[in-house]
Amino acid sequence: MTTQQASATPNLPLDMIIFGGTGDLSFRKLLPALYMAHLHCNLPPDTRILTIGRKPWSREEYINEFMEAKAKPFIEKKAFDATAWDKFLALFEYVRMDVDSVEDYHRLKEASREGVRRVFYLATSPDLFTNICDNLSAAGLVDENSRVVLEKPLGHDLASAQEINTAVGQHFSEAQIYRIDHYLGKETVQNLMVLRFGNAIFGPLWQAPYIKRVQITVAEEVGVGSRAGFYDKTGALRDMVQNHLLQLLCIVAMEPPVSLNPDAVRDEKLKVLRSLRPMTPEDIARDTVRGQYTAGAVNGEPVKGYLEEDNVPANSRAETFVALRANINNWRWANVPFFLRTGKRMQKKVSEIVIEFSELPFSIIPSGGRNYGNRLVIQLQPEESIQLQMLAKEPGSGMHMLPVNLNLDLQQAFTERRAEAYERLLIDVIRGRLTHFMRRDELEAAWAWAEPILEGWAKSGDKPRGYTAGTFGPAASTALMARENAVWAEESQ
Ligand code: BG6
Repeated sequence: MTTQQASATPNLPLDMIIFGGTGDLSFRKLLPALYMAHLHCNLPPDTRILTIGRKPWSREEYINEFMEAKAKPFIEKKAFDATAWDKFLALFEYVRMDVDSVEDYHRLKEASREGVRRVFYLATSPDLFTNICDNLSAAGLVDENSRVVLEKPLGHDLASAQEINTAVGQHFSEAQIYRIDHYLGKETVQNLMVLRFGNAIFGPLWQAPYIKRVQITVAEEVGVGSRAGFYDKTGALRDMVQNHLLQLLCIVAMEPPVSLNPDAVRDEKLKVLRSLRPMTPEDIARDTVRGQYTAGAVNGEPVKGYLEEDNVPANSRAETFVALRANINNWRWANVPFFLRTGKRMQKKVSEIVIEFSELPFSIIPSGGRNYGNRLVIQLQPEESIQLQMLAKEPGSGMHMLPVNLNLDLQQAFTERRAEAYERLLIDVIRGRLTHFMRRDELEAAWAWAEPILEGWAKSGDKPRGYTAGTFGPAASTALMARENAVWAEESQ
């Protein structure tokens, strides 16, 4: 699949039109990100932001009830500038709409200007994507300068993802579609590409048998919060693994692309996704663990179990934790397991990729009975850091070695402000840069691999295993690693 480059008319005035403009994502992420882009002069000079919601608010009510009361608190204190904020608010228009009503799109058309670039950000449930795009098109709102941003999860399985992609594709070409995965906007994730493809020393070692295992963890302290309506139908595999974790896996595992051109990068990621070994029912039983948190304590504070959270059905089987062992069937990664793990209400917030290099074939230097291998630890959150664990001589008498970290302190090396993921990706959309967005075939390949796991779990009739909030998941997750004589990163420290 190839994508024609975005049309070369970068300086058009912008109408940013946000569906789901009164939702969680808007006030937590999108609007603060747009404010930051505005503050740093990264919005085109003649920008307007049209937010769409069902609430019968006037513009003033929207500004007061939503922008001031809900979105403003999510702007970093030190970045807040009252004059810039006022100018930012002046860009806004609130459009009250029922997204299913065809007539309402004509009102949207009146509110939007002609001859501008319209970016439609669909921050709604994916069930609405098809209708919204059909209606936008029918009302004459879509032209060759328009772009559409689709929030994840795109569909709930392969068939629904294909259906949405086909429906959206009737009105927008692939070059106009930005399927967002905010992990691809994180500084350290982008830096991983530079680390891999900018440093010659890693090239020859970045494969089997020099790498023996890869761990990817995205652990959150937060629980389901107020999102049970969404989360209970979704679960951790759809919410995190099918997209964020597989995207991280792709960046670790892909072959060097020929350039940073969107298709060059996405072709390589697609090959990785298509090389993932499909899981059989036996693999699913042996190599996947799903869990659900029970009451416990996080950071010393008592917290409820998932089943006690608001709006969670008493018999819910939604998984809030997944650990699994994936394999990539290609020459580079043959027999190198990729362990992926994510969960809510874990002991601490940490997102990291750990590349475990093979141990020495034979060591002449004593290391207290342990055979250490080098490790490269790329931490995305809470701090951005890259550490290479090396072996060094333990000071004192004798020749004895111990692991010590070579630290790449990015905060100290570069003092420039780091944009948050959504800000960076929104600017990419505005400038027509598709490299860090998913192409249709990529997204569908990710579903094709993930879906049998969901089916396997449903067929097995098993419930997710309970794990106490404030831990790193069920004991079965430790056992998954122990089978390989391995431990998760936090246990090896
Ligand atoms: C979202 C998920 O995509 O990512 C959330 O829907 C999750 O459930 C969030 O909490 C995690 O993102 P981050 O950037 O905080 O790691």
